[in-house]
Amino acid sequence: MALFISFESFSQTKYKAFHPGELWLDDHGDHINAHGGGLLYHKGTYYWFGENKGKDSNNAFVGIMCYSSKDLYNWKREAVALPVSTDPDSEITAGSIMERPKVIYNKKTKKFVMWFHLELKGQGYAAARTGVAVSDKPTGPYQYKKSYRPNAGQWPENFEEEWKDRPVTTEADWWTEPWRNEVKEGLFVRRDFDKGQMSRDMTLFVDDNGKAYHIHSAEENLTLHISELSDDYLSFTGRYITLAPAGHNEAPAIFKQGEMYYLITSGCTGWDPNAARSFKSSSIWGPWEYLGNPAQGEHADLTFYSQSTYILPVQGKKNAFIYMGDRWRPKDPIDGRYIWLPVLMENGKPVIKWFDEWDLSIFEKEMH
Ligand code: DGJ
Repeated sequence: MALFISFESFSQTKYKAFHPGELWLDDHGDHINAHGGGLLYHKGTYYWFGENKGKDSNNAFVGIMCYSSKDLYNWKREAVALPVSTDPDSEITAGSIMERPKVIYNKKTKKFVMWFHLELKGQGYAAARTGVAVSDKPTGPYQYKKSYRPNAGQWPENFEEEWKDRPVTTEADWWTEPWRNEVKEGLFVRRDFDKGQMSRDMTLFVDDNGKAYHIHSAEENLTLHISELSDDYLSFTGRYITLAPAGHNEAPAIFKQGEMYYLITSGCTGWDPNAARSFKSSSIWGPWEYLGNPAQGEHADLTFYSQSTYILPVQGKKNAFIYMGDRWRPKDPIDGRYIWLPVLMENGKPVIKWFDEWDLSIFEKEMH
C-alpha cells in the first residue's frame, strides 16, 4: 500500500503500522535519516541511532543521528548525537566514513556508550577501525574518545596453537581453495596480530548478565570476530573468537531467545543486496551452527532488497524480535529505505517473511 502523507497533515497523522520500504517520516515530516542503525530501549523510550546520509555521498558530513519513539511507529528527531568534527585533523572530521552506530547503556557507570565503524577521511575502507563515544544522556551529545583496531597482541580463543607460528603471507592466489584454507587457519589474524584486528561492519550486544560484546567483520571481511568489552564498555578485554572463518559475512545482527543466541548476517556485495545468512549457538563463544537464509518467499534471495543492521527485542512482549535492514540507495543515499520485518521462529530457526504492512500485534497472533 502506498503511503502518502502531505507535510501539512503530518503533525496530525500517526503511523499505526510498519510499511517496509516506504518513506518513513519523522515528526518534522522528513524521511528518517538514520541508516545502518541500531536501537536502544531506555526507561520507556526507544532511541534509534543511525548514519545521517546526504544526496550525493555515503560519507559522514553531519554525524550520527538520534530519534526517539514510544511505540516504534512514530519517531521524533532528537539530535545529531555525535556530530562530525570541523577540525580537519580529527579522526571524525567531515568526509570520514561513520557507519552502523550502536549504543548501549552501562548500568554501573550510568553512561551511554556508542561504538561505530570508522574509516579515516580519504582512505576508502582501508583503516577498518572501530570508534567509541560516550554520553550522560541517550540523545547525546556524545563525546568522541578514540578509534582503533581491536585485540592487538591477542589470539582468538578458538585459534589452534600450531597456527600461531605460520607465515603471514601465502603463495596461494586470493579466492582459491588453498587460499581459503589459509584464511581458515588464521592467515589474516597473524598478519594483523601486532597492529590489531580489522573492524568494519559491527554491532553490539549486552547479555542478561551485563557483559557486552562487539561483533564485527574482520580479516578483510572474511571472518566475523566476537569480542568481549570491558566492564565500562569503553574498551576490549582481549577475549575474542572467530566465527565462520573465510565465510565472508557482513552486517551482523544478534538476538537472544531464551538461552539461545541467533545471528543474522549478509554476504559481501558492497551496497547491493544478497541472501542473508543465520547462525545459532547456546554460548556467545560458540560453536555457532549455520542455519541458512532466514528470509523466505519472493525476493528472499536478496533479503527483500535489504541488508541487516540490527535485531530489536520488542519490550513487554515475549519472543518478539524485529529484523531491521537497510535498502541502500548509493545513487541517492538519503533516500535509503528501512526494511523492518518480524522475526518469526519456525522449527528453532529465525524466519523473515515479507509484509507490505504489519504491526506489533503479529507477535500475539504468531504465539498461538
Ligand atoms: C556494505 C556494508 O554493510 C555497509 O555498511 C557499507 O560499508 C558498504 N558495504 C560499503 O560498500
